[in-house]
Amino acid sequence: MADLKKIIRKRAENHFDYMVQTRRYLHKNPEVSFKEYDTTDYIVHELKKLNIHVERPLETGCVGIIEGNKPGRVIALRSDIDALAMDEEGDAKKEFLSERPGAAHCCGHDAHMANMLGVANILNDLRDEIAGKVLLIFQPGEEKLPGGGRLLTESGFLQKQGVQEIYGLHMSPDFEPGQIGVKSGPFMASPDEFEIKIIGKGGHAASPHLTIDPIVLAAQVITQFQTIVSRSVAPTEPAVVTVGRIRGGSTYNVIPESAELIGTVRTFSRDTAFLIKRRMEEIVKGIAQGSGGSYTFQFNEGYPAVINDEGCTEKLIRSAEKIIGSKNVIEMERPLMAGEDFAFYQQEFPGAFFLLGSGSEEADSKWSWHHPKYNIDEKVFLTGAALMAGLVFE
Ligand code: NI
Repeated sequence: MADLKKIIRKRAENHFDYMVQTRRYLHKNPEVSFKEYDTTDYIVHELKKLNIHVERPLETGCVGIIEGNKPGRVIALRSDIDALAMDEEGDAKKEFLSERPGAAHCCGHDAHMANMLGVANILNDLRDEIAGKVLLIFQPGEEKLPGGGRLLTESGFLQKQGVQEIYGLHMSPDFEPGQIGVKSGPFMASPDEFEIKIIGKGGHAASPHLTIDPIVLAAQVITQFQTIVSRSVAPTEPAVVTVGRIRGGSTYNVIPESAELIGTVRTFSRDTAFLIKRRMEEIVKGIAQGSGGSYTFQFNEGYPAVINDEGCTEKLIRSAEKIIGSKNVIEMERPLMAGEDFAFYQQEFPGAFFLLGSGSEEADSKWSWHHPKYNIDEKVFLTGAALMAGLVFE
């Protein structure tokens, strides 16, 4: 097997230029969540060039299916394909900046696709060595609820294909090219969203005593929210409550009728999420009604947490060590509070998700996910595709 890993690594190097060109093309032509029509056509075309069978279980995105010559396990490898609804910036990528206003690959999904097409090429080269079946998932809508991962899992397509294990990766500015970050167990948080409206009574700013000021109530709510994680959640349990937007009022001298807060909650268990939801509503209710106002409270359940299967994580580590060396396989101490809809697959199949280092000074690629200057160091393709392909043979 060790020799096969060397062959895979060499193949990834052979397909490096292809992956770079593919990534740049996709980067220039981003499409937002669930609107990835051109992107899907492009991927289908690339897979068909390799004589890989393609299925389209959802409206956008597709799954390439490679049958090996020998019997064996059914393994799924997943890439997401959507861009963010934003505009981008950055000198390091000026030759291939998005040509579509309001859409940009600032989360690296362009690189995930290019990497997966590199995997398709490597597996195609080594078809005779494959035992079992490999599904290459190009999943739409990772960035938007309900999440393409959820739709694909619920479609039953993967179950019908007999998937036994699933793996996915995300580019990470926090690690260098050639390194990966892995962790068994809780890996990425469950992100929920909330929308709150505090309804008071508007009036003249000079006569506050005749109003119920929703701005003052909103300020109290935000302050009181800070006690949820510090005083209601167990200190050993990771959790975040963030108000991301506050909106209320229109001008200097008017007390408005209402104020709105929206934000996100991050947890690793449904119990903690429900505890936070309950505390939030109690606080909003107490403050609004205690002052004669009222409220609306909406809590939208997001993705589950990404919890990595122990067996799959061990396999991932074992395989990666042969490809990039054990010093480059970094076992993370703590999970991330960001969310990922890869979690939906893991509710059905054992799987592992990992971070592929893409941050470097030279490529100006240490900006965080979703930053307008977000970029990846294309050197990731030297190892990324080999790591994914390697899992098939481990
Ligand atoms: Ni992403």
